[in-house]
Amino acid sequence: MSRSVDKSRRNLVLGGLALSALGTAAVLKPRNIGENHKPYFQQMSDALDRAGLAKPSMVIDKAILQKNIAVLKSNIGNRYNYRVVAKSLPSLPLLETVMAGADTNRLMLFHQPFINQVARQLPQADVLLGKPMPVAAAANFYRAYDGQGFDAARQLQWLIDSPARLRQYQQLAQQLGVSMRINIELDVGLHRGGVKGDSDLAEMLKIIEADPALTFSGLMGYEPHVAKVPGNKLAERDKSMEVYSGKVAVARQVVGRSIDDLTLNAAGSPTYQYYLDGDFPPNELSAGSCLVKPADFDIPTLADHQPAAFVATPVLKALDHTEIPGVDGIGTLMAIWNPNRAKTFFTYGGFWKASPESPAGLSLNPLFGRSTNQEMHNGSENITLQPDDWIFLRPNQSEFVFLQFGDIAVYDKGEIVDSWPVFGPSSV
Ligand SMILES: Cc1ncc(COP(=O)(O)O)c(C=O)c1O
Repeated sequence: MSRSVDKSRRNLVLGGLALSALGTAAVLKPRNIGENHKPYFQQMSDALDRAGLAKPSMVIDKAILQKNIAVLKSNIGNRYNYRVVAKSLPSLPLLETVMAGADTNRLMLFHQPFINQVARQLPQADVLLGKPMPVAAAANFYRAYDGQGFDAARQLQWLIDSPARLRQYQQLAQQLGVSMRINIELDVGLHRGGVKGDSDLAEMLKIIEADPALTFSGLMGYEPHVAKVPGNKLAERDKSMEVYSGKVAVARQVVGRSIDDLTLNAAGSPTYQYYLDGDFPPNELSAGSCLVKPADFDIPTLADHQPAAFVATPVLKALDHTEIPGVDGIGTLMAIWNPNRAKTFFTYGGFWKASPESPAGLSLNPLFGRSTNQEMHNGSENITLQPDDWIFLRPNQSEFVFLQFGDIAVYDKGEIVDSWPVFGPSSV
């Protein structure tokens, strides 16, 4: 074979490779997906301006919140009682709105100072603890509790996970001369503690039954893993409910009476819809996050709930290019490759557990680094945001993110209509 044939074959191969690389690059090259705010967020921006807001704010769309409450109510119907998970809706007026809309006085609380706050400000509430507290926290509750309106002996269920903790609470009840209602935490498959063995459950029930200061008020078996395990979720639910039924049977046998009228709690937002068809031991379901639907709750079992909470933050600086310090030209190269990096918007604050939502096509710059002070977002030429305009993000979860902005801005049909304080750091 001649050398020139060899060379032209090599050129052909190289040309082919170059073409296929170009083809691959054309396929991989990001499309321009930038767009200005759609009318929903433009109206919210205008409302924030009219309300004189000019700082990072948590906005709740009240109409969507109400819709989510109605969806939850119609899903649960009269089949179950509904208990509001307070840590996922950490604001007293927000909780009151949900309690009124869902027609329930049942709250699940997770923090001792907040039990005191609820006892003072929502004296009609029926409270179940969502986690077992150190006995010293229970003592602190009674120390700060003035008894006005809220009758802890009737309206409060402490959650207890082991015989050892039960004995501590028993001792406290005797010391203080108070009656305590005791709900027992079950491990129904999450493996985050709670009673696993029948003998522990029987031992705890015998202690409670023998002590007039203590009353057995029910069982709590939380099972968020059901929505997360790979494979057959319904089979996992059935496994959990089999454990739950077994514990109900043990309890009934030890106390010698039906426990159907006690608080038999289960579920959370991701799982509550697994119990709408069929026959299951719990008689109440708890949920909170699904009423505001942060991004972590974009899951098939919550397809009928809508996002109702957004972080709104002002644009401080709008630049028609992207520049990264220390490496000249890299920002331009990034923008040539990805048209959604053409422009730069620095926001008032940042680094929340939240992702850009509107305008479409905004993203964080991976090289510039994160900032809680002024955060860099990139977007395409199509986005015409100016300084003082608003950017919207969606929180990934509610329980912590809601607490980072001060009062919640309540948005209703085109206006900011209210301002709801959130729990303080000591009351979450
Ligand atoms: C005991 C318990 N029940 C229910 C929930 C559900 O909360 P959410 O509906 O906000 O997911 C939680 C959340 O952590 C929990 O710890």
